[in-house]
Amino acid sequence: MLVHQSLGTRGASAPSTMIEVSHLTKRYARHEAVRDISFSVGRGEVVGFLGPNGAGKTTTMRMLTGYLPPSSGTVAVAGLDVFRESVEARAKIGYMPENVPLYDDMRVREYLKFRAQLKGLRGSRVRERVAAVIETCGLEPVRRRMIGALSKGYRQRVGLADALVHDPELLILDEPTNGLDPNQIRQIRSLIRRLGESRTILLSTHILHEVEMTCGRVIIIDQGRIKASDTPANLTACMRAAGRIEVELKIDPDAASRALGEMNQVKKVQSELLDDGWTRLTLWVDSGTDARERVAALAAANGWPLRSVFRHQATLEDVFVELTRRD
Ligand SMILES: Nc1ncnc2c1ncn2[C@@H]1O[C@H](COP(=O)(O)OP(=O)(O)OP(=O)(O)O)[C@@H](O)[C@H]1O
Ligand SMILES: [Mg+2]
Repeated sequence: MLVHQSLGTRGASAPSTMIEVSHLTKRYARHEAVRDISFSVGRGEVVGFLGPNGAGKTTTMRMLTGYLPPSSGTVAVAGLDVFRESVEARAKIGYMPENVPLYDDMRVREYLKFRAQLKGLRGSRVRERVAAVIETCGLEPVRRRMIGALSKGYRQRVGLADALVHDPELLILDEPTNGLDPNQIRQIRSLIRRLGESRTILLSTHILHEVEMTCGRVIIIDQGRIKASDTPANLTACMRAAGRIEVELKIDPDAASRALGEMNQVKKVQSELLDDGWTRLTLWVDSGTDARERVAALAAANGWPLRSVFRHQATLEDVFVELTRRD
């Protein structure tokens, strides 16, 4: 098991704290969904909150937004306790829940106006903010449509517009791209990126590629506990899978395995005879070493025909699988 945990923000100019979670625990009847987690999110950070189904993401997010009381522990948002100072804290938080509850028989603009008023906005400020979020979320073409008649993509945008309508500093988005097609995912992703320029965002998703592109930091949770918290680059850099090289040679698999296995820093070699008579060898090397050049040199020195040398780059998906697999 890879243990890599560096909680909190890093770097020389760490921004001031937006979310401070301290020893948060949630027990349902006979199940501990969140177990004593602590982490912080700095102002301006865009953080991906990842974990397998049932890991505790939604439960944590609901506690962060003040909708679900914890069994123990505290959450502060912009220095405000989300339970003891819930009204003030909620004014700072825009929350898009997992299944956006919308009123199907209301029109988009009418609904957003209603939500703005519920969140305490008054007078011209309501009109102003509703117009602003309709623009930001690309809802102009459907602003007079009934919510019940909207496509999934537009429904998600209405959910996002709702989260944004009171102009919160912090956005907590629970699977904002859930159920969208690749084009819609792109649109929501670029919208989130834009929003992240001026706000703090914590978002959960199962699309890891998306996190690599949008989030400066990733928190991985599994079985109610935090398994990792770092930048995507740091997480992938320390993966074992990072030190894997694949080479295709035209020689006898056993001879190749023996010769390559004797190279410095090669920990393990696996060979496979391909249908076309070439041999594919996978080399596990110490992480951080790049043995491609030495492999090519060895092949040249021995006169082995060589057609490819490829270094595997670990992805966030490799990190996720490594940290959360059950075996
Ligand atoms: N209201 C509830 N009562 C009892 N158990 C619950 C309740 N809500 C969630 N759980 C349990 O708590 C655990 C964490 O659930 P949670 O919804 O937070 O996971 P998640 O990480 O959001 O998963 P997913 O990726 O599927 O959305 C699960 O085992 C779930 O069954
Ligand atoms: Mg969930």
